[in-house]
Amino acid sequence: MSYAIALRCRKCGREYPLEPLNLCDFCFSPLEVIYDYKSISKAVSREKIIKGPPSMWRYKDLLPVDDDIVDIGTGFTPLVKADNLEQALGLEKLYIKNDCLNPTYSFKDRVVSIAITKAREFGFDTVACASTGNLAASVAAHAAKANIKSYVFVPSDVEPSKLTGIAIYNPVLVIVRGSYDDVNRLCSQLAQKYDWGFININLRPYYAEGSKTLGYEVAEQLGWLAPDCVVAPAASGLLFTRIWKSLDELSMLGLIQPVNTHMYVTQAAGSSPIVNAFEAGTLHVHPVKPNTIAKSIAIGDPADGYYALRVARQSGGGACAVTDEEMVAGMKLLAETEGIFAETAGGVVIAGLRKLVTSGVIKKDELTVAFITGAGLKTQEVIAGEVRPIVIQPNLESFEEIFGK
Ligand SMILES: Cc1ncc(COP(=O)(O)O)c(C=O)c1O
Ligand SMILES: [Zn+2]
Repeated sequence: MSYAIALRCRKCGREYPLEPLNLCDFCFSPLEVIYDYKSISKAVSREKIIKGPPSMWRYKDLLPVDDDIVDIGTGFTPLVKADNLEQALGLEKLYIKNDCLNPTYSFKDRVVSIAITKAREFGFDTVACASTGNLAASVAAHAAKANIKSYVFVPSDVEPSKLTGIAIYNPVLVIVRGSYDDVNRLCSQLAQKYDWGFININLRPYYAEGSKTLGYEVAEQLGWLAPDCVVAPAASGLLFTRIWKSLDELSMLGLIQPVNTHMYVTQAAGSSPIVNAFEAGTLHVHPVKPNTIAKSIAIGDPADGYYALRVARQSGGGACAVTDEEMVAGMKLLAETEGIFAETAGGVVIAGLRKLVTSGVIKKDELTVAFITGAGLKTQEVIAGEVRPIVIQPNLESFEEIFGK
C-alpha cells in the first residue's frame, strides 16, 4: 500500500488522480505526487527505516508505489568521507555520495525502478523513454527484469560506450538524428499516439520521486542530519529539486532537524541554461543549444529548470558552470584522490565544487556533500588521451632500463 493520494499541479494546485499523467490540463505545468503525510508520520520511524533492506526500498513508505516492486538492487550506495579530496580543496567536512555503484552505474536506477513499477501497476506492456544515455540503460535493464518490452530513444552523439551498456539488455534501441531536445520532442509526439508508459513523460511524476532516495540516504548516513551544502548536477533539473524535497520531507516528519541546506547546482558551460538564469538573476530559463562533452547532462531546454532555479535561490545556494577542460580535471582529481571514477557529470560536480570553494562561496567548515551520479566507464572516450602506460619487455633489464635499479 502506498501513501500517495493524488497528483497536484505545481503551479495552480489543481489535483488529479494517480494516473499516467504529467501535465496540468489548465496551465500545462508539471504534476507532482502528493502524500498523506499524517499517516506516513505514524508509519515511519528511524528504527523502522534502519531495519529495512539495504537498498532504496528502505524508504518505501515515502514512495508512490504498491508492494509489487521492480528491483534490480538499487540504492543505499556509499557515502564516502573524502579525506584526500578535502585536503586538495581546503575543506574540512566533505562527503561523496557515490551513485556510480548502482546496477546500471548511475542514479537513474532510482527513478526508473519507481517508473517501471508504476508502468506495471498501470498495466502497460511497453515502456519507452527519451534519454541522454544513462536513462536508456536503466530502462532497458528494468524492463528486462519486469518482462516488459522497451523502446529507448537516444541522440546520435551519445557516447559509443554507453550504447553497448544499453544494447546488452536487448531493448529496441533507436538512435535519433538530432539532439536530446529533438529526441524529447519526438517522444512527446509518440506519447500522444502510442499507449505506452513513457518513463519521463506520462510516468514523470512517479519517476521524479525516485531521486528523493538519494537525499534520504545521505541524511541517514550522516546520522540523521542534513548537510550544510549540497553540490549536484542538473540536466532537466529534476534530480536537484528532489534532493531538496527529500530533506524537506524528512524534517517535516521529524526524522531530522529543520533543514538549512544550501543547494548548489552545477552544469557544463556548454549546456548551462539553469546556471545562466541564476547568474542573470531571472527565473526564466532560456533554452540553449548544447555543446559539451558532458552528454548525459546536455539538455538545452530543461523541463524542470525553473523549479531547480527556485530551489537554488530559496535555499540560499547557488549555481556554477564549468568548462569541458575543468570537468576532465575534476574527473581526474576525484579518481586520483578518492579512487572514484566518475563520468563527465561527476567531473562537472567536482570542478563546480572546486570553484565554489575557491571563490569562498562554500566555507571550509561547512558539511558538504557532492553527488556523483554516474560511473566513468560510461564516458571513457573523454579521458582516452590521458592513457600513457609504460611499455617494457618481459625481463628485469627492460624494467630497470626505465626505472633504474
Ligand atoms: C549521470 C547523470 N547525472 C545527472 C543527471 C541529471 O538529471 P536531471 O535530468 O534529473 O537533472 C543525468 C541525467 O540524465 C545523468 O545522466
Ligand atoms: Zn495547473
